[in-house]
Amino acid sequence: MAPVDSDPLPTGSEVPGPGRYHLSYGQIHETVKRLAGEILASGFDPEVIVAIGTGGFIPARILKTFLNRPIYAVGISYYGVDNVPTATPRTIQWIDEVENKLAGRKVLLVDEVDDSRVTLEYCLRELLSHRPAEIAVMVLHNKDKRKRGRLPSAIRHYFVGEQTADSWICYPWDAADIEAHEERARAEARTEAGTPGA
Ligand code: G4P
Ligand code: MG
Repeated sequence: MAPVDSDPLPTGSEVPGPGRYHLSYGQIHETVKRLAGEILASGFDPEVIVAIGTGGFIPARILKTFLNRPIYAVGISYYGVDNVPTATPRTIQWIDEVENKLAGRKVLLVDEVDDSRVTLEYCLRELLSHRPAEIAVMVLHNKDKRKRGRLPSAIRHYFVGEQTADSWICYPWDAADIEAHEERARAEARTEAGTPGA
């Protein structure tokens, strides 16, 4: 079952079916490489990358191969005291000396998926409060759905690897059996119906 606005936000352990897309490390690498080209071509030249953990960590690191910018990490949680889910995100890890690192600089915020957009909006508003020169967003996937969060109007660049249906995407870093995962990703890639965005 695909998540709807009234449902609790999904966690890595909840896998709504039947539409599930498996992506290989190689496919993600190629997506990030293409995005790096789009970022450079756009004229937006980020000075720092901020990765939203944990899904944004590996895409951000691949991006560094092409853009070679320092990466800072932020962690966001939907869980409050007693591990009870909360409706709004809260920071669990934030950049030390955020103002020194971000004020007056061009920042690229990276995550793996724009799902509800709540985490993205929360991070963007936090980062904007530290007066960067500009913030742009890069995500591997943007799900085609009604969003609960909004991109602040200050965001002029939003780089998306692929627009996808509102189905669960299985990333390789979540796979316990990476050989089986990569084989399934290859099989899906051979059939258009298994490709995100199809
Ligand atoms: P958003 O605001 O950036 O749109 O994301 P949202 O908070 O709505 O997403 C809640 C959590 O669900 C996030 O994980 C996000 O990565 C994860 N998620 C949403 N859709 C998918 C999907 O199709 N596949 C996978 N694998 N994850 C998805 P998180 O709580 O930030 O944890 P983490 O996994 O990034 O550590
Ligand atoms: Mg995430």
